[in-house]
Amino acid sequence: MPSNAQSLPIDISNLCKAYGSVKALDDVSLNIAAGEFLTLLGPSGSGKTTLLMALAGFVRPDGGSLRFGGEEMIATPPHKRGLGMVFQSYALFPFMTVAENVAYPLKIRGVSKADQKTQAERALDTVQLGGYGDRRITQLSGGQRQRVALARAMVFEPQIILMDEPLSALDKKLREHMQIELKALHEKLDATVVYVTHDQREALTMSDRIAVVNHGRIEQVETPERLYRQPHSFFVADFIGESISAPVKVANDAAQLGGRLLKSNSPIAQGRGGHRLVIRPELLEVTVGAVPETANDLSGRVKDIIYQGDSVLVIVQHDSAGEINLRVPANRAGQTGLPSKGEQIGLALHPEDTIIVPEHVA
Ligand SMILES: Nc1ncnc2c1ncn2[C@@H]1O[C@H](COP(=O)(O)OP(=O)(O)OP(=O)(O)O)[C@@H](O)[C@H]1O
Ligand SMILES: [Mg+2]
Repeated sequence: MPSNAQSLPIDISNLCKAYGSVKALDDVSLNIAAGEFLTLLGPSGSGKTTLLMALAGFVRPDGGSLRFGGEEMIATPPHKRGLGMVFQSYALFPFMTVAENVAYPLKIRGVSKADQKTQAERALDTVQLGGYGDRRITQLSGGQRQRVALARAMVFEPQIILMDEPLSALDKKLREHMQIELKALHEKLDATVVYVTHDQREALTMSDRIAVVNHGRIEQVETPERLYRQPHSFFVADFIGESISAPVKVANDAAQLGGRLLKSNSPIAQGRGGHRLVIRPELLEVTVGAVPETANDLSGRVKDIIYQGDSVLVIVQHDSAGEINLRVPANRAGQTGLPSKGEQIGLALHPEDTIIVPEHVA
């Protein structure tokens, strides 16, 4: 959609919000760049909605500051913050047509009838619902309703758009389709997007950066790839992607797994709780002979082999790390020379893939 608006950066510093003894926001600081797609990712009850509602102005923080484009917003009422918003439930008006729903934010801003019509049509085109303007909301599918909600959120060209689990009501296939559509839409719009989800794959798919939220705090903010490859805590590693982990002993900047020193390329971060080795199974190398000296030896006995259609799951029992689930593409399973059940399998974990993290960031 052609836009005169320019996206704004968001600066959050030391935001706090308590509900009784629950710290919903515990000293949250975060800088979001203009035009960025930033996702708040975390488990249920971690404070994602509270943070989004604080940005929107519906939750008044106990302390801290919040700036949009450098301007302090804490005391600004929601309707004066100029935000586009999409929520989990579409919150559309069922008694209005699609076009009336989309034009509503323009109507309350006193835009002329003629301009309302053209701008609503343009927004509907952007979400690929051109020609649906005269329909009733009840005549649309879930995915179409969600797109109407999106069109309504962006029709007045907001500089910031907030979305709280907008796709969670949709089935898996439609949700995945909408993720790609939303990402493409963000590239067209000049808006900063703050997006909430508890679905790690959705966050990885859509975001420029992800802020992992846990107990009202941000554990790490990173690009999807770096978050996956270089988590700062076991909480982050475990929340993102598939992994296996085992407790390790750390002394003198070195970690030991079952009495053996682990070779790792990255320094061991300090934090709260003990340390763990995190293994991304897809990074393990199946070796034909002995595991090379330069790598960590995670060889073990094949406990089970399970056919799963597109892949074969090979469950390997390692003395110290426990069960390691290896997924081997089914079309190659016959060619990689995998041993059968009960046999020994060589597994190398290279130092650059060896992740050792504290339970939680400091
Ligand atoms: N109005 C309220 N009154 C009391 N406690 C609240 C209120 N709103 C939120 N909380 C508490 O604050 C914490 C954070 O809630 P929040 O809704 O922000 O979590 P969330 O990360 O959005 O979770 P979900 O993924 O389930 O939507 C929770 O412990 C919740 O119970
Ligand atoms: Mg929520």
